[in-house]
Amino acid sequence: MDTIRIEDAPHFVGKEVRLGAWLRNKRGSNKMQFLQLRDGTAFFQGVVAKEEVGEDIFAKIKALTQETSMYLIGTIRQDDRSPFGYEMDVKDVTVVGASEGYPITPKEHGTDFLMDHRHLYLRHIQPFATLRIRNTLIAATYEFFNKEGFIKLDSPLLTSSAPEGTTELFHTEYFDTDAYLSQTGQLYAEAGAMAFGRVFTFGPTFRAEKSKTRRHLTEFWMIEPEMAWMKQDESLEVQERYIAYLIQAVLDRNDYELDLLGRDKDLLKSYTQLPYPRVSYDDAIDLLKENDFDVEWGVDFGSPEETFLANHFNKPVFITNFPKEIKAFYMKRDEERDDIVISADLLAPEGYGEIIGGSERDTDYDYLEQRIKEMGLPVEDYQWYLDLRQYGAVPHSGFGLGLERMVTWVTGEEHIREAIPFPRTMNRLKP
Ligand code: 4AD
Ligand code: MG
Repeated sequence: MDTIRIEDAPHFVGKEVRLGAWLRNKRGSNKMQFLQLRDGTAFFQGVVAKEEVGEDIFAKIKALTQETSMYLIGTIRQDDRSPFGYEMDVKDVTVVGASEGYPITPKEHGTDFLMDHRHLYLRHIQPFATLRIRNTLIAATYEFFNKEGFIKLDSPLLTSSAPEGTTELFHTEYFDTDAYLSQTGQLYAEAGAMAFGRVFTFGPTFRAEKSKTRRHLTEFWMIEPEMAWMKQDESLEVQERYIAYLIQAVLDRNDYELDLLGRDKDLLKSYTQLPYPRVSYDDAIDLLKENDFDVEWGVDFGSPEETFLANHFNKPVFITNFPKEIKAFYMKRDEERDDIVISADLLAPEGYGEIIGGSERDTDYDYLEQRIKEMGLPVEDYQWYLDLRQYGAVPHSGFGLGLERMVTWVTGEEHIREAIPFPRTMNRLKP
């Protein structure tokens, strides 16, 4: 007899098989029991008829409790009424691991309760679907960048510097000196681009953000491509191709998960239409003013402004050329205007806000040294970075995509904490 996983059921219609699964829930009568089963690949139903299995087996099955693990023997049947499309007519069950008093019962639970039980809640439909889509986005990232001639470069997580600003650093001791958890792999990616041409980093990054918003984690995963010999215009083309590739990959591979989440697939499909609009920061400010936002040139956008801008275009939109003063030290100056930098944020529609931040990088040694000083950063820590400008600097550009922001948007989740297996936020370090 074959041992199968639920996702393989379509290949075993009419056959008797063995399946390892957990019991999510059950209902029924004294004649029939309907077992809601899961095995990590899908959710489906096992049907038990007393008439078929006899008194003893039926009584054993009727007494099973939530999250008991077991082997089931039965026959796979196609059933178009069930969401999965297949069911199992169960003949017998062998309990593997008992489960008493499972805390996440089928009734409604609050967010804090579910997050306190995240180690168990992972088994439930919503995290299952969302985190499988996360997995597709990770796999598709490697595919996309490998196809486009990038190599993955791993950047260190323990660092001595603060490239995105000093206010959001996690500090730690490193023997008899200080260290910080990395906010970005970018500076290392720039060194990599000068060695390999095109690289991407992908790893956890840390920000001591004291903001309790639905878009902020203190530990999040970032993908940071960096391209030598590339100006910002071309970088924007890489960015939109990458986003469209990711969305298409999810549409192709996660139909089941998108349906479990009730996500609008036509809407997602519309985001694969390129190009995305490019709107200058100046024009964005004018547009916001025309629509009664209280904004002045020079401010950074908050969530209401970002939501308005992306909804206005109904698709992801690049906001380009931000004021120098609200951006990081490494961004390239505009040739005509000293007050803006060659940068872009990609805003996602539906209120999901900034998913990508990027720029062309300045290549002038003296200017960068001066900016590092102006930002109050210690020049010694950046000497190696300045070296990149001393030995054969070339135009180069890069960007960072926040993986969890992308997951939240694609899955249509309300809150970024759903987009990572074990979220870290201002008030959560457990489990
Ligand atoms: O805009 P950010 O700060 O840019 C950088 O770190 C650059 N070094 C990237 C680069 O050019 N290589 O962050 C990039 C992205 C944001 O657009 C957002 O998607 C995500 O990282 N991000 C966060 N995601 C979750 N929680 C947070 N606290 C985040 N901060 C940034
Ligand atoms: Mg940003």
